[in-house]
Amino acid sequence: MLAIRTQFSNHFNYNAALVVKSPGRINLIGEHIDYNHGFVLPAAIDKFIELAIGKRTDGAIHMVALDLGETIILPIHNLAPHATVWVNYIIGVVDQVFNNLATNENNFAKIKEDFNGGFSICIQGNIPLGAGLSSSAAVECAVLFALNELYNLSLTRMQMALMAQSAEHKFAGVNCGIMDMFASLHGEKNKAILLDCDSLAFTYYPLALNDYSIVLFDTQIKHALASSEYNTRRLECEQGLKIIQEKYPTVKTFRDISLEQVEACLASNDVNRSKVYQRCKYVVEEIQRVQLAVQDLGKGDMQAFGKKMFETHKGLSKLYEVSCPELDFLVEAVSNNENVLGARMMGGGFGGCTINIIKKSAVEEITKELTASYAQVMHKELAVYITSIEDGTHIVEGTHLVA
Ligand code: GLA
Repeated sequence: MLAIRTQFSNHFNYNAALVVKSPGRINLIGEHIDYNHGFVLPAAIDKFIELAIGKRTDGAIHMVALDLGETIILPIHNLAPHATVWVNYIIGVVDQVFNNLATNENNFAKIKEDFNGGFSICIQGNIPLGAGLSSSAAVECAVLFALNELYNLSLTRMQMALMAQSAEHKFAGVNCGIMDMFASLHGEKNKAILLDCDSLAFTYYPLALNDYSIVLFDTQIKHALASSEYNTRRLECEQGLKIIQEKYPTVKTFRDISLEQVEACLASNDVNRSKVYQRCKYVVEEIQRVQLAVQDLGKGDMQAFGKKMFETHKGLSKLYEVSCPELDFLVEAVSNNENVLGARMMGGGFGGCTINIIKKSAVEEITKELTASYAQVMHKELAVYITSIEDGTHIVEGTHLVA
């Protein structure tokens, strides 16, 4: 495969100003609680989006998705959600940059003039799409990081994460939390990051996995968060929180809620109310579980940590109902294996991957067995990614993707 710089020059007949790389993410524990003021423990991985970018002067954005062989050209002004999904991840952050420039009118007059000229961009990547590894966040973060560099926007990584999240809400229609964008931008090699999704404070935890590997088993069921129940889960949680706040006015977020309060306010025979009860019970349990899991991590007790991953899966499957038969099958299949410390569905759910902590010496055999049983029972091909933890979004000189 040609280096992305070369592909850029071939397409546009001028040289790219810079090349940026932004990774996908895993999440060790803390699922569906980033938008519920909980804690998450993600890390950036060795799958990434790469782009080459250069300024233009004709007021247009020329976008090339190399993997898809598609080119879309749009005027840089009056951007609105587009029918082509991948385009939204680019123009969504461009729209955010305009908002940002508008709020700083005087300081940014010169930058704004420059930005109005537009840009050319080539993108490619090796993050499997719809697999729960945040390929869309990686595109948004790569583009925003590149624009920040190219136009000297002086944005911090956290500001960029928040802007990319807003872009996803507005242009992709998914009311996601902050985790994916945060992780893609803040990743550090061999470290997991504990993010407090309330204060946005974060701490790096070295991941000493020693004899163990992080292995992702991909159901190859593509999830589409926008059309899935993701947004419904958010609403159910908001509904539950409101009911609890009526009885306990001092409660601000899920962080202040005890399981007893969930029982007292939401346990019910009414079907709708009992769904809200289940969602809130899961959220409160998961917020507590992550805090205990982090203590396990601090003590190096990966056995205890792994057990909590299984508990999280149970909650996501039975209470939060964001799993699917294929994910349940893959977790169940390794649950009594002494070489697997922990396993659970990861990310938004309804498909995508399970995350597993597996003894290195057993990875090959477990993968072989699981591939065979998944094909036999689910009639699908399992994809397997043995994952390493890598740095977050950064500028690359002269890189090219190895296919
Ligand atoms: C998706 C969202 C995240 C987060 C996870 C579930 O990846 O983008 O914000 O809510 O689902 O933990």
